[in-house]
Amino acid sequence: MANPYLTTVALFAALGALAAVDAALASFGLTPFLLGLRWLRIHLVTLGLFTEAVFGLLPCLMSRAAGRPLPAPHRGRWLLLNVGLVTLLVGIPLVRAPMIAVGGTIVLIATLWLAVDLWRIGGGRSVSPSPAAGGDPAPGLAAAGFATGRPFYLAGLTLLLVGALVGTGLWLEWGPALGIARPKETHIHANLWGFASLVLAGLLVDLHGALRGGRAPDRSRSLRAAWWLMTGGALALVVAPWVAMDWLMVLGIAMYAAATALLYATLVWPLRPGAVKAAGSAPDRRPWAGSAHLLTAYLWILVPALALPFIVFGGAAVPAARVEPVGPSILSYGWLLQALVALLPPAIALAAGAGAGGSLGAGSGSGSDGRPDASEAPTKPLRLGGSPLSWAALNLCTLALVASVALPAQEAALQGLAFGLLAVALLWLARNLLPER
Ligand code: HEM
Repeated sequence: MANPYLTTVALFAALGALAAVDAALASFGLTPFLLGLRWLRIHLVTLGLFTEAVFGLLPCLMSRAAGRPLPAPHRGRWLLLNVGLVTLLVGIPLVRAPMIAVGGTIVLIATLWLAVDLWRIGGGRSVSPSPAAGGDPAPGLAAAGFATGRPFYLAGLTLLLVGALVGTGLWLEWGPALGIARPKETHIHANLWGFASLVLAGLLVDLHGALRGGRAPDRSRSLRAAWWLMTGGALALVVAPWVAMDWLMVLGIAMYAAATALLYATLVWPLRPGAVKAAGSAPDRRPWAGSAHLLTAYLWILVPALALPFIVFGGAAVPAARVEPVGPSILSYGWLLQALVALLPPAIALAAGAGAGGSLGAGSGSGSDGRPDASEAPTKPLRLGGSPLSWAALNLCTLALVASVALPAQEAALQGLAFGLLAVALLWLARNLLPER
């Protein structure tokens, strides 16, 4: 049977494409069948596609790094997460308070369960972060520090707990009760600058060696600095709108930008097209597309980061009221979705078959129980996902969204174009995530 997480990721990608087609039609003034719901469109990508992938991938990636057998997909947790997601996807657009409370609580419980499991996988002394090293048992993943994505994942999931709690309360009026001055901003910051940023950074750490076709050089010092800067920056960006302290926002964004620049130099730039090939990447007819996705995704996250101080303190050429409705979409599609298009296929392969030529979700090598054996060393470099079509579609989509902020007269046409291109990219992703039969 197919991995339920992978199938659901493809399902949410296809649903996201449908919601994007709806938004394009609504922008062009044609029939909007979902009433152009922005919440649904964004959360099909952030909550549906991304969070689902995180739940499916992280237990396997951490087990692999810990030298343990790969766990089977946790079907109970999959059910819990998806019951919560579907309840929210119905309840929030209808603004049904009981459904929002139930759905949000279920997602919170599933997240806590995942975080506790990940904590357990990485603890203990009997596993080795480097199975090839042999000899005495190593002191466990926790001691491997920044050689694996674990610290990034744990910090990211903690921020998801905060983000999901605040998000669930957004239409239930929990904001005043929790003393939150600007709840929506707090929710977005916890989830995008916190949860998504830290988990993507963890994926980059775990995938780096396999993408370069061998053991990656030790980058622990830079990654430790990036973790502190990114976690500290995300916390400042969550606390700032919570207590309405704008100078803290600028400090947070400065820390976050420094962390991103460090990650870019340490993990993203070494995967640029020429470098991957030189490191002995597998033959690829389009070797540049996956790297280009990563390089441009991490440039898009810096655009709002650099614009934020001008928006907060004034002096921006465009009023904040025009940026606010579009800013989250620029980040969700230009950065998060684009990085996912590049990282999901190799992450799925690594999680399924330890990087040795595994096909998506199928698992290549196998242990004595028939499941892939985590101790297998990668023998063949993994490839980043993406194609020239997905790269052009997502970057033109993001450019059109940015242009729609600056050009009010062309706003509808530009957003219609952007959502049409988003639909193309999401359909491409859905098609390419499912294994060939
Ligand atoms: C339990 C889970 C979640 C709940 C209940 C939730 C709920 C909400 C609500 C009620 C809004 C405000 C919509 C509005 O005022 O128009 C919102 C906005 C947003 N959320 Fe979430 N959310 C959840 C998870 C996430 C996750 C995991 C992410 C990102 C990884 C995310 C990213 C966003 C973004 C970017 C927006 C701004 C959308 C816009 O204004 O265009 N959310 N969310």
